[in-house]
Amino acid sequence: MKIGILGTGSYLPEKVLTNDDLAKMVDTNDEWIRTRTGIIERRIVAEDEATSDLAYKAAKSAIEDAGINKDEIELIIVATMTPDHVTPSTAAIVQDRLGIRAAAFDLSAACTGFVYAYTTGYSFIRAGIYKKVLVIGAEAMTRTIDWEDRGTCILFGDGAGAVVLGETDSGGFIASNLVADGSGACELMIPSGGSRKPVSIETIKNKEIYMQMNGREIFKFAVKVFPETVENVLEQGNITADDVDLFIPHQANIRIIESIAKRFKQSMDKFYVNLQKYGNTSAATIPIAIDEANKEGRLKKGDKLVAVGFGGGLTYGSVLFEWSK
Ligand code: ACO
Repeated sequence: MKIGILGTGSYLPEKVLTNDDLAKMVDTNDEWIRTRTGIIERRIVAEDEATSDLAYKAAKSAIEDAGINKDEIELIIVATMTPDHVTPSTAAIVQDRLGIRAAAFDLSAACTGFVYAYTTGYSFIRAGIYKKVLVIGAEAMTRTIDWEDRGTCILFGDGAGAVVLGETDSGGFIASNLVADGSGACELMIPSGGSRKPVSIETIKNKEIYMQMNGREIFKFAVKVFPETVENVLEQGNITADDVDLFIPHQANIRIIESIAKRFKQSMDKFYVNLQKYGNTSAATIPIAIDEANKEGRLKKGDKLVAVGFGGGLTYGSVLFEWSK
């Protein structure tokens, strides 16, 4: 049985925050942000919007694109590091909004979340447990940001992307590689808000309720693990980088993507890039990119695609698949 993507969707909040806007908030400037990251602007959730709102809209559009009845969805997975609440899961909220009967859970693997969720959804179908799975990557990253920390506030944005997985005539999932290295947990963390350090007046004062990131370490980590995980899925699929039609990398920093293109001796045309518009939307970057590439007509049946993620955990991983729409 071949298992692939039946439909894609995405949703970006309306509000745009430009580099110039940020320059009015912290000691930074458009030139620094563009040259060091490639980001020009990002989207920000409205005051009354949360991750499930973005996820729901992306999901609706993916179901429409798949041309299926929403009741055919048997499982919803939401990859997110910015759930609406610690509990209940954001996926359960999306299930209710969609008005369907389905199993639903969140998956926490930070920016690698979609790659983990894609593999998980595929595995449920492969095991014969469900026939159609809705896989969503959705984030309200700006809710975790310390707007006085120029090292993080320039990087992140909000958004959601979704795919419907199911049986296809051809192509589909080929290989996956998922890795975690918890020894680097402290490199990207929201220290307070979980069971280790519940929110208190003290943690609020110490800004421990915001994301703290060691940018340089994450950069080094990304450049090291990106080739490793791509090589792993290429080897499993018995193909080379030359055979890949489009790489869909996590959209964190253009310099990371450029260094990988160079390393694999591939032109940048083979790497989908939209980080200039949205910044880093964590688990949402890859499904948003897949949806945009799909809707732009950039994907042809039979194309070989590699989606690659890395981020908090630390986690990283890739999925190799063939476009079957
Ligand atoms: N504006 C102006 N100057 C700045 C800014 C800013 N926004 N931020 C840092 N600087 C300064 C620094 O203070 C430093 O100054 P100094 O030399 O006087 O000390 C200088 O610029 C260079 O700082 P670096 O941290 O070395 O800059 P770098 O080139 O590494 O870029 C960046 C920083 C953009 C954060 C980069 O390290 C990066 O992209 N890292 C990866 C981050 C990432 O991908 N995180 C997400 C992971 S995914 C997830 O799971 C959520």
